[in-house]
Amino acid sequence: MNIALFASGTGSNVQALITAVEEGRLDATLVCLVCDNPQAAVIDKAQQAQIPTLVLPPSACPHRQAWEEHILAFLQAHQTDLIVLAGFMRIIGDTLLEAYPKRIINIHPSLLPEFPGRHGIQDAYEAGVAQTGVTIHFVDAGIDTGEIIAQESLAIPQEATLAELEAAIHAIEHRLYPAALQTLIEKGKMDK
Ligand code: GAR
Repeated sequence: MNIALFASGTGSNVQALITAVEEGRLDATLVCLVCDNPQAAVIDKAQQAQIPTLVLPPSACPHRQAWEEHILAFLQAHQTDLIVLAGFMRIIGDTLLEAYPKRIINIHPSLLPEFPGRHGIQDAYEAGVAQTGVTIHFVDAGIDTGEIIAQESLAIPQEATLAELEAAIHAIEHRLYPAALQTLIEKGKMDK
């Protein structure tokens, strides 16, 4: 299974997936990384792991569709079977959705459908809910919508700071994402 990673920021989830492949917990090849943010720390992480990287902000292209077509050509050149979003902060449009039907997966730091968007952890924290968690789901045209693959919940201790909650959520993500992808691959839901 050839996986293309998409990321915009720190890349701790990308690093967790790299480590899972190295340790034999994820039976896949990380064939490339697509990054929309030239300043992102994830670019270095991919470089260290010798993963070919395309850094392409949408502003570098005349319009959205041209941006996606450029990305699609890069994915196809690397024989991508599956797209795995790991902190990718852009909406996936029709060009990629049609090229990879049910083959684009996202991780989100809340119990969807609660707290979609860019600030899932902070929004749950500020709402004062008793529990939050992590969701892994297939991507559709919406923002953090699409069929849910796996969820894990976490009780928020009353005295927890936002930083503590973020650390606890990321720890779940780094364990759950490789495991959920491996389960999908083993179940043959993604034949190849
Ligand atoms: C992760 O918490 C991921 O779930 C979230 O961005 C963070 C990226 O961290 N994604 C979203 O909020 C998507 N809506 P990372 O760059 O360290 O992996």
